[in-house]
Amino acid sequence: MKRPKLQVALDQNTLPEALGIATKAAPALDVVEAGTILQLQTGAEAIRCFRQAFPDKIIVSDTKCADAGGTVAHNSKVAGADWMTVICCATIPTMQAAKKEINDLQVELYQGWTWDDAQKWREIGIDQVVYHQSRDALLAGETWGEKDLNVVKRFIDMGFKVSVTGGLNADTIKLFKGVPVWTFIAGRAITGADDPLAAAQEIRHEIDKYWGEE
Ligand code: 5RP
Repeated sequence: MKRPKLQVALDQNTLPEALGIATKAAPALDVVEAGTILQLQTGAEAIRCFRQAFPDKIIVSDTKCADAGGTVAHNSKVAGADWMTVICCATIPTMQAAKKEINDLQVELYQGWTWDDAQKWREIGIDQVVYHQSRDALLAGETWGEKDLNVVKRFIDMGFKVSVTGGLNADTIKLFKGVPVWTFIAGRAITGADDPLAAAQEIRHEIDKYWGEE
């Protein structure tokens, strides 16, 4: 089973803070995300900065785009993004327009989607989803469990590469043992640590333990 990638979600309010954390954690990372919060503060400058700082890493533009997919994806692409997110309630034309600009388009799953929607996403060539426990749901007491794994596995059976995110840390990685997760996305577990590199390495160690080294 291929080893899942490790992605850091940078949701700081300022670019210097986000860049400082990413630079420290970089040796343990495969993917650097210009987070939604950061992009709302800085715009595409965050993507441009990460592209320049980390030429060999995958850069994700986490726009959670809901409309104007072609324009938003074009702007993310020109700034240097490899992957971009759209929200699950975006229309199919929005997703198609975005995918024309950025082939590696990820549908970010919150609520309100159906398995019929997921089938339509496959039919237009989308093969990545992000299974997300929102931070507000987690704050309200939601936890990761069997119900989440079942949804993740069903998406994988449909041919999706599934990234997972939302309050993940070194302790929660083992819950996914045996599941071919595409990417683990961790935000605060890395960005909130005194030593972001050590925190990222600890998660990476867990990934290597359960999925083996590449
Ligand atoms: C917020 C996000 C976050 O980037 C994602 O949830 C990861 O953050 P954390 O690990 O801190 O929950 O997409 O909208």
